[in-house]
Amino acid sequence: MLTLGIESSCDDTAAAVLDNDRVLSNVLNCQDTIHSKFGGVVPELASRQHLQSIHPVVLQALAKADVQLSDIGLIAATQGPGLIGSLLVGFSYAKALSHVRRIPFIGVDHMAGHILSIFLGSDKPVFPYIALIVSGGTSSLFLAEDVHRFQLLGRTRDDAAGEAFDKVAKLLELGYPGGPEIAKTADCGDPRYVRFPRAWLDEKSLDFSFSGLKTAVLNHVNQQKLKNIQLHIPDICASFQEAVVDVLVEKTLLAAREHNIKTIVVGGGVSANLRLRNRFSERCSREGISFHAPQPQYCTDNGAMIAFAGSHRYAACGASTLDADVYSRSRLG
Ligand code: KG4
Repeated sequence: MLTLGIESSCDDTAAAVLDNDRVLSNVLNCQDTIHSKFGGVVPELASRQHLQSIHPVVLQALAKADVQLSDIGLIAATQGPGLIGSLLVGFSYAKALSHVRRIPFIGVDHMAGHILSIFLGSDKPVFPYIALIVSGGTSSLFLAEDVHRFQLLGRTRDDAAGEAFDKVAKLLELGYPGGPEIAKTADCGDPRYVRFPRAWLDEKSLDFSFSGLKTAVLNHVNQQKLKNIQLHIPDICASFQEAVVDVLVEKTLLAAREHNIKTIVVGGGVSANLRLRNRFSERCSREGISFHAPQPQYCTDNGAMIAFAGSHRYAACGASTLDADVYSRSRLG
């Protein structure tokens, strides 16, 4: 069966066509140039841009897959979590298409898409696994039992990991999105230059908190400026990145130990970070855990992961009804 997947939860308009689990096309219209001058996503601008992009992006996905709309057996669209205005564009478009062309429709949780995005490549894990999902909107740990059973183990109490990267990059005037800029700048920096705080929270807590770290970077920058000391930007970036990576890796390993799970999977935009991937590979091989990370195009928001999650949910639970509505907070867990 061919599935058309549509994603518009934040600032990327994305569509993909899957033939069962095989990706035939994966098209993305990225809005970074629109939001970069604000140092973050402006919700109103994001939804207006989705309105302009959604139809051309879907047409491109069909053309690249070399299929017609009449060949599509299922339309899957992100239902939440995300920005309501952005979600409404993709979700309403998908429902209208489904109604007019009489194609079954299913709403998909964006987090389920990220948890399962690893299956879009060749490095497929076996269930159960611990999934660390880290993006601009979330830092969460899940126990994935199978393709539609996910248990939430921990989540961010304040800023998401990607949000912290973006805010620190804005503070250091490195541009938006901040994650790739910080990662690039950190390459020639010393991760031991400043010992920024790690928020472990309670000993057994699987929740995250990154707002204190962000404030620590701000305080460091202000102190250096007061003392007229030139900022060592690459060292600050490397030290900040190390603090984020330490917490993400160690808490994910703690979750694996607590639940006696031998497989770890990452997903979301921040999982493209090379330092994070390398540290996971090192630590997991020492602990006898198998580690899996998606290809970069499936780390960020994409339509393929929505088509994948949607087709498996449809096989188990059937279609959604057309009165289904979008939601801003995840319903998983
Ligand atoms: O999953 P994603 O595309 O969706 C949203 O949450 O919108 O994630 C985007 C986030 C941004 O915060 C971006 O700065 C971060 O992922 N990101 C990275 C890297 N690439 C993207 N963070 C750290 N290192 C990277 N290489």
